[in-house]
Amino acid sequence: MTNKKDSVGSTTRVLRTKVKKKRGLKESSRRWLERHLNDPYVQRSKADGYRSRAAYKLIEIDDKHHLLKPGQKVIDLGAAPGGWCQVAAARTKSTAAAPHVVGIDYLEMDAVPGSAILQMDFLDDAAPARLIEELGGEPDIVLSDMAAPTTGHRRTDHIRTMHLCEVAADFAMSVLKPGGHFLTKTFQGGTENELLDMLKRSFRSVHHVKPPASRDESVELYLLAKDFKGRAPAEE
Ligand SMILES: C[S@@+](CC[C@H](N)C(=O)[O-])C[C@H]1O[C@@H](n2cnc3c(N)ncnc32)[C@H](O)[C@@H]1O
Repeated sequence: MTNKKDSVGSTTRVLRTKVKKKRGLKESSRRWLERHLNDPYVQRSKADGYRSRAAYKLIEIDDKHHLLKPGQKVIDLGAAPGGWCQVAAARTKSTAAAPHVVGIDYLEMDAVPGSAILQMDFLDDAAPARLIEELGGEPDIVLSDMAAPTTGHRRTDHIRTMHLCEVAADFAMSVLKPGGHFLTKTFQGGTENELLDMLKRSFRSVHHVKPPASRDESVELYLLAKDFKGRAPAEE
């Protein structure tokens, strides 16, 4: 046992959990489990009542970039198990009686107070209209933490998640209110120039962010596009 300052800033007595080598448990899985059990964000998410350690990524990004404000309408793509919905609902002061945060995931998840949840594939043609219908209007913010299930083949995983990122960007640009923001998960080296250029044309500022809760060794990165310029009026 040691006293140390953890990466989320608090001084704690650290009792490291060791996961023993067992027959049938792959070494990579043993290492993942050991790292997960000793992760200060995982421990803190349990104490703070967040569904995921991912909640801290949104908290850290929002603390720095001030996106979420009371009363805003928010769409959360890839919402399960619900950490981002919890943060968005709390910061926009969304209530269970009149939720203005809507999350979507094809995985089943428990209800999040202040959020409406659609269990549906975002790539389904009907998803965009269902999201707007559920929200009752255009969003101020579109969040996407969607990640494709890992196949073990890094390149395939990368391509699939980048596809989700592009579809999310298209969606955001077709529904956001002028002045709205778009935050999406992406990968280092993964954002296609075409997508970046398109976002730069449509938003007043676009940049990559890596919150401290996103592990250094992970290629995960977030792309933050702020202040949507709006859509050209439809031609008659
Ligand atoms: C990293 S997790 C999101 C964690 C979440 N932000 C939180 O704080 O709890 C990524 C999620 O994206 C979802 N996802 C991936 N592809 C999707 C799709 N096509 N439609 C809906 N959800 C999708 C996965 O099911 C997974 O739950």
